Amino acid sequence: MNLRARFPIFKTHPKLVYLDSASTSQRVDSSMKAEQDYYLNSNANVHRGLYPMAEAATEKYESVREIARKFLHAGKDGEVVFTRGATESLNIVALGWGRKFLKKGDEVLLTVLEHHSNLVPWQIVAKEKGARVKFCPILSTGNLDYKALEKLVTKKTKIISVTGLSNTLGTLIDLPVVVRLARKVGAKICVDAAQLVAHMSVDVQKLDVDFLAFSGHKIYGPTGAGVLYAKREILETMDPWLGGGDMIREVSEEFSTWNDIPWKFEAGTPSVAQVIGMGAAMEFMMEVGKNTLMKHDREMQEYTFKKLNELSFVEVYGPKGFDQHRGSISFNVKGVHPHDVAAILGDQGVCVRAGHHCTMPLMKALCQVSTVRVSFGLYNTAKDVEALSKGLKKVAKIFEL
Ligand SMILES: Cc1ncc(COP(=O)(O)O)c(C=O)c1O
Repeated sequence: MNLRARFPIFKTHPKLVYLDSASTSQRVDSSMKAEQDYYLNSNANVHRGLYPMAEAATEKYESVREIARKFLHAGKDGEVVFTRGATESLNIVALGWGRKFLKKGDEVLLTVLEHHSNLVPWQIVAKEKGARVKFCPILSTGNLDYKALEKLVTKKTKIISVTGLSNTLGTLIDLPVVVRLARKVGAKICVDAAQLVAHMSVDVQKLDVDFLAFSGHKIYGPTGAGVLYAKREILETMDPWLGGGDMIREVSEEFSTWNDIPWKFEAGTPSVAQVIGMGAAMEFMMEVGKNTLMKHDREMQEYTFKKLNELSFVEVYGPKGFDQHRGSISFNVKGVHPHDVAAILGDQGVCVRAGHHCTMPLMKALCQVSTVRVSFGLYNTAKDVEALSKGLKKVAKIFEL
């Protein structure tokens, strides 16, 4: 399969060197087409209309739940909630579950690798409930300190919410170990899989996680659509987090009752076209399959580390082994601000990101204010890495390194 040919952006911008997929990926043709098909042939609101076009819209939208169920290897019906993205999914866990079940003195355990989306919602809820948010540190290698994690899990731990794959360092988390620790104390486990699902196939039943969140736009689909997977029995116990149309069964002047799950958590008109586009993107990921995904990731990662190692003025952070790392590589050019590096690379058509990557506690742990980050998608080739290397040599020349 010529993967790059599936991404129309490279036809309109043949010279584009896009190394910012952890931020948002380029869109796959089938996802763009699915969205356009909906607008051209069945553009109507879902769940309410009784005319054929509205029924077709509902059918298309709802059929994505089965695709998501397969994509995540989920078991039961009702376990896939559509959201506007990973951030919203994680807020539902914090506000819908945390607000109801956390009590004063309880502990929420995160890691310093977390994206702010899996941190700030917990801080908000913990403050409201008098609970405490604790952070597991990393080792100097950028791997999670599992020994420290073991000590941080106590009887007070009510939920461990972890990234599956760090958006900044590309650190892979050993989820079975984290799940085992959570189960020891009866804590829930939530996985921020925003990066993970772009690089690994995930089996929520095998992993035995309670919640898992991701966005469509990081797996070659549209922005504005995401998934919250949650075990059915847990969703049943949770309160809605957002009120409005579609999430109710009955409304009177005195009270309201809630719709069945998952619709209880989908207030208002959903991102219909985007969810349909996300469905096509998940199908694309399944079509590509885990072996191709892994082979591509390995090739990109090994070649990038090799090229970066050739540059004495570059300092790379995080784990390097393929068993511990996927997708994102963070580095700095010694003595040069990451924003300058990114701007010079940008002038040469190489798109990378510079900043804290929404992981400020991680920056503190690395003793850095920001880093340059390159991240890969299925369309990247060795030529992109070579363009990066050439661009970095230009940075060195400009700054006389
Ligand atoms: C690990 C991780 N979690 C959560 C998010 C938030 O995703 P979104 O902005 O699509 O809601 C991101 C986005 O970069 C991420 O990388």
